[in-house]
Amino acid sequence: MNAAQDLRAADARHHIHGHTNLRSHDEKGPSAMVVEGQGVWITTDDGQKLIDGFSGLGCTSLGYDNARIAAAAHEQLSTLPYAPTFYGRSHPKVAALAERLVNLAPGDMSRVIFQCSGSEATDTLIKFLWARNTARGEPDRRTFITRWRGYYGNTVASVSMSGQPHMHEKFGLPLDGFVKTETPNYYLNHIDGETEEEFSQRMADDLERVILDVGPDRVAAFAAEPMQSGGGAIKPPEGYWPRMQAVLRKHGIHFHVDEVVCGFGRTGNRWGSETWGLEPDTVSCAKALTAGFFPMSALMFKEDMYLDLQANADDVGVLGHGFTYSGHPVGAAVAMETLDIYEEIDLVGHVRSVSPGFLAGCEELLDHPLVGHVGGVGLFCGIQLVSNKATRELFDPALKVGQRVQDHAHDRGLYLRAINPDRISFMPPLIINAKEIAEATRRLKGALDDTWAELNA
Ligand SMILES: Cc1ncc(COP(=O)(O)O)c(C=O)c1O
Repeated sequence: MNAAQDLRAADARHHIHGHTNLRSHDEKGPSAMVVEGQGVWITTDDGQKLIDGFSGLGCTSLGYDNARIAAAAHEQLSTLPYAPTFYGRSHPKVAALAERLVNLAPGDMSRVIFQCSGSEATDTLIKFLWARNTARGEPDRRTFITRWRGYYGNTVASVSMSGQPHMHEKFGLPLDGFVKTETPNYYLNHIDGETEEEFSQRMADDLERVILDVGPDRVAAFAAEPMQSGGGAIKPPEGYWPRMQAVLRKHGIHFHVDEVVCGFGRTGNRWGSETWGLEPDTVSCAKALTAGFFPMSALMFKEDMYLDLQANADDVGVLGHGFTYSGHPVGAAVAMETLDIYEEIDLVGHVRSVSPGFLAGCEELLDHPLVGHVGGVGLFCGIQLVSNKATRELFDPALKVGQRVQDHAHDRGLYLRAINPDRISFMPPLIINAKEIAEATRRLKGALDDTWAELNA
């Protein structure tokens, strides 16, 4: 065995991978061993070069090499590699980042707390809302409403908030007090003849039904991504968000917007909230906050929520919460440099300029016999594979059609992400250029052709 084979064997033998079929990993080893990246391209240990069609996991907004971010991280590692943020202690980079981020945030945010992951941001949200409701004399306002197919993380509480049954099964989850409303997948779930607006009204009615079932005064929040990502890149249908927000306002329900994927340009605006006119009470972000170069997330909220937390801290003595690596100096330095770069290269403007070509290329895939629906915005597109376009019937899951497309795409040099049920979430790094988009789409079309030929063989 050569060194690369040794490492593959070590990985198969010892390394547990999340969201992976463990038996297949044991038998076959890693499906890719990525050794380096440049621009939107990654290279595997066998020398194959692939275009990254899902931005790592939606985080590598600036691609895989960036001398400025590397230099900012190096500078911070050489100056102050670590500093706690407990006990009121701080450091310059996190103070600057806090001010910058709340000023950029959608809505009237004034406070921010940092974590290392989106999951921890969700967990912090849950705890802080429970705590602020206690401060307000509403300790029973504890239930979280989210949508089926939503993805908010993997800790015990954040996965309870997520609406992905395979992440609950066998874990004895979700916890009590995390309830779900419908997912706005118009294409798969609309009734024949129902318009998008009518479907959106049905979604809003279901949200209201859930709120009334729980009791409006027991609902801590409704939390949602502007466009569902882990659920399969599901673009909200016409009229969806105005109707959903009207229900939230009617019942005085706190609205948390998870910008972990949509934030920093993915949908063609800095925030998904801007794209769909959302009015969040709290906001979380992560991933592109540091362009994926360092694990960091942020939870932002308004002054009134802060004052409630402060009242609790007056009673207890402190805010009884925090993580060792909250506001890590290297993460803060990387985030500051990343935000500088976003502004200097006008990343949002770039996404807007390449988005029409990207979406048109995706739409052309509708001619393919496997593709039932395509829906996207910015550089974010969901592609639904179906066995029958007329009836919108899905494939037998045993055929693993999405997985086949993912595998064929890999063979053709496109790193892709298939999500059940047989959806492709196509979301390349935000710096991708028109030529690379055309090449990625050509490879995706080839992978669909390969899959079609294989199914018909
Ligand atoms: C919308 C959204 N929120 C939260 C998370 C959780 O983030 P993390 O994996 O950093 O814990 C994810 C992860 O993909 C996500 O897509």
